[in-house]
Amino acid sequence: VLDGKLPTAADIEAAAQRLGANIRRTPVFHLTGAELGVEGDVALKLELTQHTGSFKARGALNSIAALPAAPAGVVAASGGNHGAAVAWAAAQAGAAADIFLPATSPASKAERVRSYGATAHVVEGYYPDALLAAQRWIAERSSGGDEILCIHAYDGFDTVCGQGSVGLEIAEQVPAADFVLVGCGGGGLFAGVATALAGRCDVVPVEPRRCANLHAALAAGHPVPVEVGGVAADSLGAAETGAIAYAVAAGSDVEPAMVGDDDILAARLWLWEHCRLLAEPGACAALAAVTAGVVPVRRGETAVVVISGGNHSTLPYPASHERRD
Ligand SMILES: Cc1ncc(COP(=O)(O)O)c(C=O)c1O
Repeated sequence: VLDGKLPTAADIEAAAQRLGANIRRTPVFHLTGAELGVEGDVALKLELTQHTGSFKARGALNSIAALPAAPAGVVAASGGNHGAAVAWAAAQAGAAADIFLPATSPASKAERVRSYGATAHVVEGYYPDALLAAQRWIAERSSGGDEILCIHAYDGFDTVCGQGSVGLEIAEQVPAADFVLVGCGGGGLFAGVATALAGRCDVVPVEPRRCANLHAALAAGHPVPVEVGGVAADSLGAAETGAIAYAVAAGSDVEPAMVGDDDILAARLWLWEHCRLLAEPGACAALAAVTAGVVPVRRGETAVVVISGGNHSTLPYPASHERRD
């Protein structure tokens, strides 16, 4: 249930101003439809070239920059791109960061968090255990009077506004875009980009079949927990859609798309073989919707596909998507 206000296009403009040159304006890579076997044109928005290797840097930095003064500390529970992004953003702001990771995430993730100067707390168990440890840690410190900022990975107002800055760049870089496809986990990226581009073009959230929390939420009429798994679960495997994303999706007439794990891996391999871009599986779900023909790109249309991150330690060849670290 949404307990705060929904971001507006003006909120996203303000976030983009705030982020300024601290965030990279990532490049757009134009393909002809013929290359992809579709009739229209496709442009890739390369967020895998963003600081920390994913768009998550935007929401993390905006969440800190939106405060009137730098917090004493910044905390996140995440074994993935959000954790690295928060560690990086805190370093940019000169704040200490404590990132709680489940012991089930690969050691390289904790190393990456430490490489930005943050403290990595490795917690026995899975993501919910790390979240609980982070909450306990915050409760202990806050009672001492310290202002500690906990940055939500996808359902925070400032997180969503930061992610929305991707949409503003797309509007400038590909003004002819008819629609934009984004991978959807908890839905922060979708909600931000859809709000930024409202009235200009449609934004289609794409979920893996095995992480389909938005489809489940729309069917139930509210966010519901789902079982997640599959090749993209490390980035798109939020157990439940965010309240903000749910409100944005329910208020739009855009149909979310669904892709299979094989489609995602095939899109990842295509991106590597044909563009020499190595994206992580979750970042290829949106492209998979095009390459698998789930979302048609018709003659005369231009689709923008956000390639959202590149932090993975596996190669894209068949049978090599098991973790190597
Ligand atoms: C590479 C990548 N793409 C997409 C997403 C989905 O973002 P959201 O949870 O805002 O839907 C994530 C989230 O971790 C991610 O790491």
